[in-house]
Amino acid sequence: MDLADRRLGHLLEPIPGVEDRPAKAPQLGGVLAQRPKVREIHAAGEHRPLAAHDHAANRLVSGRLLEGGAQCEHKLAVDRVPLLGALQDDVTDRSAVLGCDYGHVDRLPALDDQKSGGRLVQIKKVGVLGAGLMGHGIAQVAAQSGYEVVLREVDDERLEKGMGRIDKQLARAVEKGKVEQSDADAVQERIQRTTDYSDLAECDLVIEAITEDLALKLEMWREVDGIVKPEAIFATNTSSLAVINQAAVTSRPDRFLGLHYFNPAQVMKLVEVVRAVTTSDEVFEAGVEFAQANGKLGIATKDKAGFIVNRLLVPYLLDAIRALEEGVGSISEIDEAMKAGAGHPMGPLALADFVGLDTMGAICEVMYEEFAERRFAQPPTLRKMLAAGWYGKKSGKGFYDYSGESPAENSALSG
Ligand SMILES: NC(=O)c1ccc[n+]([C@@H]2O[C@H](COP(=O)([O-])OP(=O)(O)OC[C@H]3O[C@@H](n4cnc5c(N)ncnc54)[C@H](O)[C@@H]3O)[C@@H](O)[C@H]2O)c1
Repeated sequence: MDLADRRLGHLLEPIPGVEDRPAKAPQLGGVLAQRPKVREIHAAGEHRPLAAHDHAANRLVSGRLLEGGAQCEHKLAVDRVPLLGALQDDVTDRSAVLGCDYGHVDRLPALDDQKSGGRLVQIKKVGVLGAGLMGHGIAQVAAQSGYEVVLREVDDERLEKGMGRIDKQLARAVEKGKVEQSDADAVQERIQRTTDYSDLAECDLVIEAITEDLALKLEMWREVDGIVKPEAIFATNTSSLAVINQAAVTSRPDRFLGLHYFNPAQVMKLVEVVRAVTTSDEVFEAGVEFAQANGKLGIATKDKAGFIVNRLLVPYLLDAIRALEEGVGSISEIDEAMKAGAGHPMGPLALADFVGLDTMGAICEVMYEEFAERRFAQPPTLRKMLAAGWYGKKSGKGFYDYSGESPAENSALSG
């Protein structure tokens, strides 16, 4: 790697700590002032981020999409609602969220710019399936961005649990003076909760964030496809399954794409926009625009298991488990070493707990099947933990035990 290369220069820049990020979004003037610089970089075919606090000017890495980005940024409201602080309280390690300073702005006016001609509908109402780790966050981000949201779960208990998480984060933001009560109320009011598929009928976009199980997802899409209006777009938040497999069971494979958010969706900046072989250009572009209107960085990826991030991240997490099995270090030694030695915001074992070991187990099964490489295989320790029902933070126990005031190493795994 040639660090003298202009494109890699940013790697030498210090990583900003959470505390260093400004509480307010960059003001519109600052974003626009950067525009010529961004154009110059993209004209030169370079993809390097600008200053960490100006990510708003850098949402799209594709030069082709830059113009659309400029249009939307013109429309960005400056009275954003930063919820980062509130959400960080729920993150195992506060520093897990690196340089993700973006606002949760009511961006509804920007929606006027979306295409409404041809078969492409204007996205106003978004259905979200699943209110678990990912679904509740995706629903919250969409509502904060001004969309009407319909959030569907399998039963009232899980629905209320997901809504409870949203309420808690909004309440903390109000408490800290980061958001007005009236804005928080408006976000909550925009989320219609339901256990009934028929409430999704009028959605323009439906995003699924249900359990990472292909059979479950296919069963769900068959039902939803018959209910939701034919011009609506469908998207999957799957971490590993092929998008085409889901698209193919619907009557609209051309209107199906992947929108892969990251955990926690309210904070993490990236959405991988996945084009299946059947996805039309219009729908792919609508997906990129939607990610952008949610304040995210949309990056195009091919429909290959794990896309970009998990293709690289999952083998790393599994290697950390193997290092633990081999006694290279204890749980906290491995985590602390990677934080202090590699500058990672969160250790790999804490991160695995945070992702959810059940979800991670499902992801590596799919990737192992796809690539038949040992690096994607579940290590024995992970298998045993799954059998024990230790799914990480969400179940109260994983590599760490979360029952106390602060996470402690799971003693059953040491020694
Ligand atoms: N956990 C992560 O870090 C992460 C990150 C990105 C993407 N994903 C992907 O997001 C999806 C969900 O993962 P998660 O971590 O939120 O899982 P989760 O187990 O926390 O939540 C899944 C939820 O889906 C619900 N559900 C199941 N079938 C449903 C249906 N037919 N309709 C509505 N709800 C239904 C379940 O009751 C559960 O509450 C998976 O595809 C996963 O690969 C996960």
